[in-house]
Amino acid sequence: MNSSELRQKFLKFFEKKGHKIAPSSSLLPFDQSVLFTTAGMQQFSLYLSGEKDVIKDFETRYLTTCQKCFRSDDINEIGDDTHNTFFEMLGNWSIGQDKKGHYFKKQAIKYALEFLIDELCLDKNRFYITIFKGNKDISKDEESEKIWQEQDIPKKRIREFGEKDNLWGPVGETGICGPCSEIHYDRGGKFGCNRADCGPNCNHCQRFVEIWNLVFMEYDKDKNGKYKPLSQKNVDTGMGFERTAAILQGKPSAYETDLFGLIIQEIEKISNKKYEAEKKNFRIIADHIRGSVFLISEGIFPSNIEQGYILRRILRRAIRFGKILNLPPGFLIPLAQKVIAIYKDVYPELLSKQADILTIIQKEEEKFEKTLEKGIKETNSMIAKGDISGKQAFDLYQSYGFPIEMTKELAKEHARKVDEKGFEQALKKHQEISRAGREKKFGGGGQFSPKLHTATHLLHSALRKILGNQVKQMGSDITLERLRFDFSFDRKLLPEEIKKIEDLVNQKIKQDLEVKKEEMSYEKAIKSGALAFFKEKYPEIVTVYSIGDFSNEICAGPHIKRTSELGQFKIIKQESSSAGIRRIKAILL
Ligand code: SER
Repeated sequence: MNSSELRQKFLKFFEKKGHKIAPSSSLLPFDQSVLFTTAGMQQFSLYLSGEKDVIKDFETRYLTTCQKCFRSDDINEIGDDTHNTFFEMLGNWSIGQDKKGHYFKKQAIKYALEFLIDELCLDKNRFYITIFKGNKDISKDEESEKIWQEQDIPKKRIREFGEKDNLWGPVGETGICGPCSEIHYDRGGKFGCNRADCGPNCNHCQRFVEIWNLVFMEYDKDKNGKYKPLSQKNVDTGMGFERTAAILQGKPSAYETDLFGLIIQEIEKISNKKYEAEKKNFRIIADHIRGSVFLISEGIFPSNIEQGYILRRILRRAIRFGKILNLPPGFLIPLAQKVIAIYKDVYPELLSKQADILTIIQKEEEKFEKTLEKGIKETNSMIAKGDISGKQAFDLYQSYGFPIEMTKELAKEHARKVDEKGFEQALKKHQEISRAGREKKFGGGGQFSPKLHTATHLLHSALRKILGNQVKQMGSDITLERLRFDFSFDRKLLPEEIKKIEDLVNQKIKQDLEVKKEEMSYEKAIKSGALAFFKEKYPEIVTVYSIGDFSNEICAGPHIKRTSELGQFKIIKQESSSAGIRRIKAILL
């Protein structure tokens, strides 16, 4: 079964069972407490917690998606059979309950088995199940254990695990979570380690692959680590799309399936080497170029902060591994084109943004190529003398653009250590010095206009809506005459983009929206999607200003009461503020 069929089959199956197919959300989550979307449930988190009414927005409690995800924690695992940075997750949800409809453990388990056995024709005898064995706060999930047995899964193939494996979530430090039950697929002895205790979650081999995680979400974990029961129970499931595709296509990993075939063939062609002989290097390059293409398609560009840093890291890592295979400069471009060819029908934005994607990759590659050889030489001479100090690692970062992770990897290959703490200190000192030169806060003796302040919030939201969620406030300065807003974005805005932004702000002004002020915990504000200027340190209780449902920001104020007081909004200038940061000046007429 090819991968497109699998995607379609899953969504159609759950649609037939009364679920609504929802589109994948962005890789950049609305909740800024985490960098990326790492699970299908993130776009539904406020419905799962009961803070928002799912019926009002979706007209059903049952949802299904194929979600784009990115996990930066897994970068060092790339090369094995089962991890990827970018991946897709298939999922189904039953959110909250009422008299008419809701399903929980039993139905979730039955659906999963029906899909795997009847639709995918997988052999049930290869399924191993894991359940939560309980901890001091939550008891063992005996109910699931019983249901699996009722569904003819023998007890010997049901295994108990603790919090790490079978208590899922929360995504960040706090939030919704619950015990989970996972379906692992036994790929057979040839993938095994032959230890007597080998089984699901084996630490020594990848014979057993987790393909589907059924989470029974019913708790909220607070910052003291306490689990409070949610007001409602939910089902949240996630099936590993790549892993399942590999099993269905009888391949050891996704790299041998139709999801990566064209990319791997292209690397073989350019390098004149065989995948089988250089598996790990091929896999790292293929994974990282795919991840990079998707991140850039979301409007992220390589930088030294947050998502941009992760993108830079994987692009540069792909280039470094390209060197090992002797790939010529510019090799990432044909690979990126293959990624677009594979995914363009499912994610048409890759095609419409093709030109931007290729230019950004090319620019980053050129930038890094210039210093890579010299940097590697310099690193090797440091390594020859001993461990790498914090200052040395910082110099490699400053002079050659080596992400610290790359220096660590090079050092590790020669059994040397890197003083990471020292590096962090040197970096922080450097950032503080450059920030002091850049940032000018409100007040400071000057007079400023609350109207322009409210307009700044509207502009911030409009920029994110039109240019994408990668836009973040980097600075702001308001006088009586004009606002000035600095934000992360790597290129000049097009005239039509400026016009769209102005129009959107003016539309919100005309709608005469109420500007609401509320006090809440910082944590709650961030979870609700409130924008924050992350360079500041916030107190526990913060003030949040919201403008209709268009803007939501942590801010000390002051603001005007209604948007109609603003008049007409006009952008008078755009310029570059520093690398990767644009500056807009605007006025109210
Ligand atoms: N949230 C769970 C996971 O990511 C199930 O979707 O595995």
